[in-house]
Parts: sequence; structure tokens; C-alpha cells
Amino acid sequence: MADAGAHRATAIEEHAASQIGPAQEHLIETYRKKAKHYDITCRLYPVPGYPQRTQRLQAVQALGLRPGDRVVDIACGTGLNFPLIEQAIGPNGHIVGVDLTDAMLAQAQHRLQNNGWSNISLVQADAASFHFPTGVDAILSTYALCQVPECADVIAHGAAALSHGGRWVVLDLKLPDNTPRWPTQLGIAIVRHFASIDEWMVRRPWEAISAAMRKELADVSLTELAFGTAFLAAGSSVSGTGPEPRIGFERGSAPREAASRA
Ligand SMILES: C[S@@+](CC[C@H](N)C(=O)[O-])C[C@H]1O[C@@H](n2cnc3c(N)ncnc32)[C@H](O)[C@@H]1O
Repeated sequence: MADAGAHRATAIEEHAASQIGPAQEHLIETYRKKAKHYDITCRLYPVPGYPQRTQRLQAVQALGLRPGDRVVDIACGTGLNFPLIEQAIGPNGHIVGVDLTDAMLAQAQHRLQNNGWSNISLVQADAASFHFPTGVDAILSTYALCQVPECADVIAHGAAALSHGGRWVVLDLKLPDNTPRWPTQLGIAIVRHFASIDEWMVRRPWEAISAAMRKELADVSLTELAFGTAFLAAGSSVSGTGPEPRIGFERGSAPREAASRA
């Protein structure tokens, strides 16, 4: 991965900060307020008791990581995925954690220091304009990509940077399909406290993400989780010759693990 090994966890690299506009400034302000207590409060996200840790595990498993792999965690926040990734890649692997919010990255940096990890680089950047290092083995984004209006572009940029057979995995929330109106509205009323979701509901980013995954990657699987309130989208770099992508979400089943890379 170009230059990735040269970064050290002691500093947060700023990337294209001058391109941050009013929408991103608002988002940064929102997450600055959440950052300090995020690791605790996110356990209530989107509702108390939600199987977030199980879903994170499924997402990391779907990356099919091996020792020494190079991984990008897009919109990594405070680095809640890092322990799971570190366990799989070991000290010879490398993680680049990218996030727009300085305060979230500052929390991630504490995590690095507390765990003595020296193989993680933190980059403050908008996912939409982030230049992925070439030849990465895996890219992950959890509970974040739906907040990025240019999510389809992010999928495309990441797919272009993946090594042969490299994996792209997105875990995020969605509105359940075919759900009676009142439970959906009840859920929205609860979640509204944690996030601004009106724009999200209209934009339906999980559809754009799914379409982009099918367009840019091979061997794509789209799996609904937790009664259709979340989805796991996974695919492999198209530089390989994967089978025809399947269309639509699979319901209820756990996602399969990544196919082995060449
Ligand atoms: C709900 S948190 C999820 C954090 C982490 N991925 C996790 O699973 O805990 C959403 C994160 O996305 C980041 N984010 C939102 N829009 C972004 C963008 N355009 N580029 C990079 N990061 C972004 C926020 O700063 C925040 O840290």
C-alpha cells in the first residue's frame, strides 16, 4: 500500500481540509459534541439492545482478513472496529482510519495509545475526496457511509484501489422494506434523537450503495440484518473474474465469509 507503512499513530494527518464546506462543518460540529462519550452512547444506537457488536463482527468477518493485510476503515470514528481488525491482521498488517471529524479521530488516537498499536494511521478527510492508497486488501465502513451524499463515488474510488480479490464491506442502517407504517414511524421517532434522518429517508442511500457495489465489484452479497433495519453489502475487486452479481437483499441469513483472494 503506497506510503501507508510510513504513517505513525502519533499524529493525525489532515487531508484536503480546505475542501470542507458548510454541510461537512455542521456534521463535524455534531460529532465533536458526541466524540467524548461516543463509545458509550453508541451502544444505544439506533435503539438500546440493538445487536451492533454482532453486526460489526459479521462485517469484519466478511472482509476475509489475513495476517499482514492492509485495511482502510472509512469514517472510522473512534476506532471501534480497530480491535476486531487488529486481531485478524496482526502487527504486520496496517490500518488507515479515515474520518472527517477531528474529535472522533482524537478518541481513536487514545485507543491506539492505550492499546500500543503502532500500525494504524489516522487521516482527517472527507470520504468523498479521500485518495485511497493503491493495493489495499480490504475496505470497511460501518454505520457511516449512508451519511455521505457521495457514497456511490466512495465505493467506486475504493473499488479502484483494491488489490486483486480485495474486499469492500459496508455495514449501515436502512429503512425496512414492506414494514407497516406505524413501527417504522415509531423507530424513526426514537432514532431522530440521535441523528438527522429526514434527508436520509428521502435519499435512501442504502439503495445507492447497493447499486454501486453491484456496478463496481464482483461476487456481491447484500444481506439484510435485524429485520431489515441494517444491511451488510460485500464484494470483491473486479480485477478478478467473479460470478455474476446477485440482485436484491437476502433476508435473515448471516452473511457468508469472504471468498479467498488470489
Ligand atoms: C455513527 S459514526 C460511525 C463511526 C464508526 N464507523 C463506527 O462504526 O463506530 C459516523 C462517523 O462518520 C463520520 N463521517 C460522516 N461523514 C463523513 C465523511 N463525509 N467523510 C468522512 N467521515 C465522515 C463522522 O465524523 C463519524 O465519525
